[in-house]
Amino acid sequence: MTDDFSADLSGRTAVVTGASSGIGAAIAELFLANGATVIGLQRRPDDRQHPRYRSRAVDLGDTAGLDAVVADVLAESRVDILVNNAGLNIRHPFEDFPAEDWDRVLDVNLTAVVRLAQGFGRPMLERGDGIVINLASMLSFFGGFTASAYAASKGAVGQFTKSLANEWAGRGVRVNAIAPGFIATEMNTALMADETRDRQIRERIPAGRWGAADDIAGAALFLASGASRYVHGAVIPVDGGYLGR
Ligand SMILES: NC(=O)c1ccc[n+]([C@@H]2O[C@H](COP(=O)([O-])OP(=O)(O)OC[C@H]3O[C@@H](n4cnc5c(N)ncnc54)[C@H](OP(=O)(O)O)[C@@H]3O)[C@@H](O)[C@H]2O)c1
Repeated sequence: MTDDFSADLSGRTAVVTGASSGIGAAIAELFLANGATVIGLQRRPDDRQHPRYRSRAVDLGDTAGLDAVVADVLAESRVDILVNNAGLNIRHPFEDFPAEDWDRVLDVNLTAVVRLAQGFGRPMLERGDGIVINLASMLSFFGGFTASAYAASKGAVGQFTKSLANEWAGRGVRVNAIAPGFIATEMNTALMADETRDRQIRERIPAGRWGAADDIAGAALFLASGASRYVHGAVIPVDGGYLGR
């Protein structure tokens, strides 16, 4: 019985989108350290050297090409775990938000998540075994400022996660999301460099510090392992207490 709760991912293959930096890189590293084979999907050439790691250069904003990418990956490998991590934020006051930037954010943050969940999820359903982990955000709950496309996409990711969990929970596929708080990654370089905003953010976080990418990887390992076997359709804040304040 206790074996079910092990974090050992040996023999499991995980697709992690955006494994080239930040949270996705930390998730890929932790999954590798716990025995998984990891396939990274991102644009940047990847120099990670690990016998159980490989990557594929993909622009997830090219949503029309994603079904073919899924088919290629599945032709080579069974996929047990999908981590829809890649994402971006483009900020503009809404009245000036260019349509192409809106589409870019929605394509990468939402449509790619949906296409990959369907493509990798179908064989999981056939086997009656699989795990999908989506990356939501504090802006799945709050509106934020000058981030309307990001908030719309992440709100949708939270609702999509619940909707999919309702359909798949009884068929062996667990679907959940992680909602990171303020995490020190490339995405937040500008915020961290702004002394006032940096101080305001830290003061608002009960834990008193920005999160590290590893803090999110720990939650991903929990969701990928049997320790979370009765967790379905959850959008789990990992935020140093921010949401509860
Ligand atoms: N950092 C935070 O505070 C925070 C808070 C809440 C939620 N999140 C979410 O967590 C996830 C990871 O964020 P992060 O902070 O780790 O950001 P990051 O350091 O900027 O990394 C983003 C990753 O997404 C990939 N990516 C972006 N656009 C892509 C595209 N068009 N095609 C393929 N890959 C693409 C990037 O890879 P390439 O550049 O190589 O393509 C990179 O690996 C995102 O979904 C983000 O919204 C982050």
